[in-house]
Amino acid sequence: MKVGVAADHGGFELKEELRRALGDAGHDVVDYGARRLEPGDDYPDFVIPLATAVARGEVNRGMAVCGSGVGACVAANKVRGVRAALIHDVFSAHQGVEDDDMNVICLGGRVVGFSLAWDLTQAFLDASFIGGERHRRRLAKISTQEL
Ligand code: RB5
Repeated sequence: MKVGVAADHGGFELKEELRRALGDAGHDVVDYGARRLEPGDDYPDFVIPLATAVARGEVNRGMAVCGSGVGACVAANKVRGVRAALIHDVFSAHQGVEDDDMNVICLGGRVVGFSLAWDLTQAFLDASFIGGERHRRRLAKISTQEL
């Protein structure tokens, strides 16, 4: 799968670990930055390009990491066509895709360690949108709010 990753300084270390693990697992990884640890950087500078790439179909899924995951989630959801969620449990990592067609997972680099983050990543990437009528109906109602 083609997977985009992005992080600010708060998520940089975890993003680097995930990038390496995704590559080792055979995924095609696109890194939207940050490319180095810069304590003064701003998560929208990396998360918005990632989210835009997901919305354009340039990557299949996105992973956005900041300190808490909150800012990354807020930023990603401003991009039309992106359905991002802050996820720190395995159930939501796959159910968010199955029911809600989540296409960007947001993680807190200061909240979860690599082992849990990798379990979340695998659950997220292995899941597919079920696409039932009720799921599509709900997403269509959300889409009416997108400008
Ligand atoms: C940056 O220090 C921090 O605020 C950011 O990574 C993130 O946690 C925001 O939600």
